[in-house]
Amino acid sequence: MLKDKIYDAKKEVLAFEASDIQQAEDFRLKFLVSKGLIKALFNEFKSAPAEEKRMLGKELNELKKLAEEKYASVKKKLESNSQQEDENNRLDLTLAGEGVELGSRHPLSLVRKEIVEIFNKLGFVVSEGPEIEDDWHNFSALNFAPEHPARDMQDTFFIQRNGDEEIALRTHTSSVQVRMMEKGNPPFRAIMPGRVYRNEAISARAHCFFHQVEGLYIDKGVSFADLKQTLFYFVQELFGENTKVRFRPSYFPFTEPSAEMDISCTICKGEGCQLCKHSGWVEILGCGMVDPNVLENCKIDSKKFTGFAFGMGIERIANLKYEIKDLRLFSENDVRFLKQFESELI
Ligand code: DAH
Repeated sequence: MLKDKIYDAKKEVLAFEASDIQQAEDFRLKFLVSKGLIKALFNEFKSAPAEEKRMLGKELNELKKLAEEKYASVKKKLESNSQQEDENNRLDLTLAGEGVELGSRHPLSLVRKEIVEIFNKLGFVVSEGPEIEDDWHNFSALNFAPEHPARDMQDTFFIQRNGDEEIALRTHTSSVQVRMMEKGNPPFRAIMPGRVYRNEAISARAHCFFHQVEGLYIDKGVSFADLKQTLFYFVQELFGENTKVRFRPSYFPFTEPSAEMDISCTICKGEGCQLCKHSGWVEILGCGMVDPNVLENCKIDSKKFTGFAFGMGIERIANLKYEIKDLRLFSENDVRFLKQFESELI
């Protein structure tokens, strides 16, 4: 019966899938060409009983349409697969990979790391303290008189007044000395790197924040000779064996005696240049023997213990090492500047 033949053909068309072009072509030859199955069914239709013609005609047309659509969609799918294959074949797997862009350490981190490593070799450990400080740790315990000009609004960023207590951003890392000594029993041998803040107009030579490294050594019998030898060793390690040092008497409330230390100019090696203002020397740090008042403020017996302290600016050392003339470069995050330190030790 024609009706059954159409039904079987429809079933076959609907179920058809092709995994290659040849199968699709076989489908076309079977159903769609003029000697194919559908054409044959149309021929058979001509002699069908008149009362069935309407229904059979409709079925046959549907079958034809289904077969054509199936062929078109199967062919399209096969073609797009082969296009994808072509694209895959076009990938050149022997090409070199894209380079990964490495960042670099900030020059201040490089210098801090170097300073820490040198003092580590001498047995100094690293200690840190808070950037928000009270008056006691930043000033009073360090023997600053109540009217000392360093407490002035000009220099200090005050945050809040708690009754008698001022809360401020620390103006130097010497506050960490106090925190360390308050903790307990000497001996202490530590360096204390960190960020400090001062209320200054930003320019090439000054910034409202910068970085310091503080040093402290407290034990029985520590002398100024120990201070000199320690700092001399440090400078030779950092700037090279031929670097000379000189100490000039100075004043800090928390040390007695106090000194500032100069090194022979790293640029002109002492000949005289712009950096050292033709003196051959550049100042790099302040230092001195810890004032007995400071020891007593921190509950350390100043008859039994002595010690030395020093403090230096990391930016200052970085300026000398890398000849950076403008302080603002350190905080601008300009990659053209930062990239220049890529080759430095990680
Ligand atoms: N705190 C000082 C400053 O910020 C630096 C300093 C000088 C620290 C002498 C010290 C020191 O420990 O003994 O300028």
